Amino acid sequence: METAGVLMTYPMSTYLEQELDSRFDLFRLWDFPSRTKFLQQHSHSIRAVVANTTCGADAELIDSLPNLEIVSTYSVGLDKIDLVKCMERGIQVTNTPEVLTDDVADCAIGLVLATMRRICECDRFVRNGAWKKGEFGLSTKFSGKAVGIVGLGRIGSAIAKRAEAFGCPISYFSRSKKPDINYKYYSSIVDLAANCRILIVACALTEETRHIVNREVIDALGLEGILINIGRGPIVDEAELVSALLEGRLAGAGLDVFENEPEVPEQLCNLENVVLLPHVGSDTVETCQAMADLVIGNVEAHFLKKPLLTPVF
Ligand code: DGY
Repeated sequence: METAGVLMTYPMSTYLEQELDSRFDLFRLWDFPSRTKFLQQHSHSIRAVVANTTCGADAELIDSLPNLEIVSTYSVGLDKIDLVKCMERGIQVTNTPEVLTDDVADCAIGLVLATMRRICECDRFVRNGAWKKGEFGLSTKFSGKAVGIVGLGRIGSAIAKRAEAFGCPISYFSRSKKPDINYKYYSSIVDLAANCRILIVACALTEETRHIVNREVIDALGLEGILINIGRGPIVDEAELVSALLEGRLAGAGLDVFENEPEVPEQLCNLENVVLLPHVGSDTVETCQAMADLVIGNVEAHFLKKPLLTPVF
């Protein structure tokens, strides 16, 4: 295979970095004092970009790489890739679907249980010695509660399957009703929120879904409602969520994603009824290896002129 310049935008996985380094002429963006410095020296050498959700491939980067042929993202989410720009330039795009579905769905259920059964609060209670002074209070039962899912794609469906095993009635909101699915469909996210106890956000971030979970949705979910977000932070209006939690208009929230990661509003950090994770839904050893293998396989297939493993286009 001819030597090709591959740019990694962020140190996402040591295994991926080593494998790419052994196969291609690898450039690490973080090795350079600035993106400008890197571009001044190497912009013409780069034929592939390996990006992730922390550092994607925006229009400015794509425009600066005249010989770019493929963008391979180490994520299923495509919100950090300028897809329009790639399409216009005829640049191929790949992502890492399927391999992370189970882990992200497990994480969603983990967040539901941690929030409703107050697992992190219990852990703090034991660690700080409070148990010796008295009993911990009560938590809320999850089994059998109505679960509403925003986005019934691969991950949403995997969450639904898991919640069904807890005896939960499932309903969902998405752009259109899915054929051959027996869960109750709502064409309005407000109606979905009004008819479930736990609302789980599992859709992709697009211009259509940005802040789709707004004050009206949060208020429809109501005083006993639990909001879980394993999709993307900006799908939820975070300021409205914080206000609702502070004012007691929502029972709790379990969040793996935030509007301005890694920034998390201090008010959220001070609340007991929220569980906060650092965007780790897919971060298991097994899944990260599988995601890295897909990225490597896609970039390799491109340069060998073979079919891509997981093309977006
Ligand atoms: C994804 O793959 O999109 C996950 O959110 C991890 O970034």
